[in-house]
Amino acid sequence: MNLLKEEAIATPVGITLDRFIKSKQSAVSNASGEFSQLLRDIALASKIVHREINRAGLSNILGMYGAENPHGEAQQRLDISAHIRFVRALRNGGEVAAVVSEEEEGLIYTGNHHGKYVVALDPLDGSSNIDVNVSIGTIFSIYKRVTPIGTPPGESDFLQGGRQQVCAGYVLYGSSTMLVYTTGEGVNGFTYDISLGEYFLSHPGMTIRPGGSVYSCNEGNLADFDERVQRYIMKCRERRMTARYIGSLVGDFHRNLIKGGIYLYPALPQAPSGKLRLLYECYPLAYVIEQAGGAATNCTDTILDLPISSIHQRSPLVIGSRELVEEVNQI
Ligand code: AHG
Ligand code: MN
Ligand code: MN
Repeated sequence: MNLLKEEAIATPVGITLDRFIKSKQSAVSNASGEFSQLLRDIALASKIVHREINRAGLSNILGMYGAENPHGEAQQRLDISAHIRFVRALRNGGEVAAVVSEEEEGLIYTGNHHGKYVVALDPLDGSSNIDVNVSIGTIFSIYKRVTPIGTPPGESDFLQGGRQQVCAGYVLYGSSTMLVYTTGEGVNGFTYDISLGEYFLSHPGMTIRPGGSVYSCNEGNLADFDERVQRYIMKCRERRMTARYIGSLVGDFHRNLIKGGIYLYPALPQAPSGKLRLLYECYPLAYVIEQAGGAATNCTDTILDLPISSIHQRSPLVIGSRELVEEVNQI
């Protein structure tokens, strides 16, 4: 049998996440492999969370947990189990010295004081969509420690600012599960093949178009948006743009990344700094969008340049296609 015939019979499955990570690692001289292992730990945790989400209806894991997170929001059982899965994977991996999670007030020390990295997490994003079988996600952000290796990590490791992220990304548990991340050399998306238990590179070099026709915000809050954002939404309507809002940031972000569009979660009277968290929602997605050619602001200033003073700090967020995001500043 000649090669051409063989190829016609068996289409290549493509590049696995593992092989992709390895190829990037070997391109860096002196790479120790710790960062690669950390990415694998995140991928592993996401596969477990994928499994739990898919079994949720069967395994009595849906519903309220009966407690509140540090922000006073009711926790769902899947919020907690995703939090546990990611923290456990990062602790067992050994490369991470501390974790910050939306679901816990303080730093989570892994006990690995020799770990070079710290990770900030929104373990389960889109909690309100868990019970109704709608797409949810995980958001992650990785920093190299600034505290000396071998000593206990501290808050300063997390409060370095968005530009210091060495990697950021998200997992979307949607009609298929995808892992999308950047290390500052563009954005790559991997789709999970359940039958093989592997992520495959499906969206290499993701970019967002400069404009776009989708706008996403909780329009029920329109009367509470500041006047500038209200005017912008009116402009979107006049242009007959398409309104799409899932209420899962990861899902809304991912759709707009692929189709072109803008997502807005502005300040509200009851949430003067907005609802979303800078460290593990806004910074990581801002890093991804900039790497994809888009932009992210807090309505005026660039998200990645915003200073951060506390791990659960909130920020308004306007994110998506560059031209659309810039229009909000100009209106
Ligand atoms: P989380 O589930 O991690 O608390 O995040 C929920 C966030 C975000 O995913 C979504 O875009 C937004 O809350 C929706 O808020 P509204 O219900 O106020 O629109
Ligand atoms: Mn969230
Ligand atoms: Mn969450």
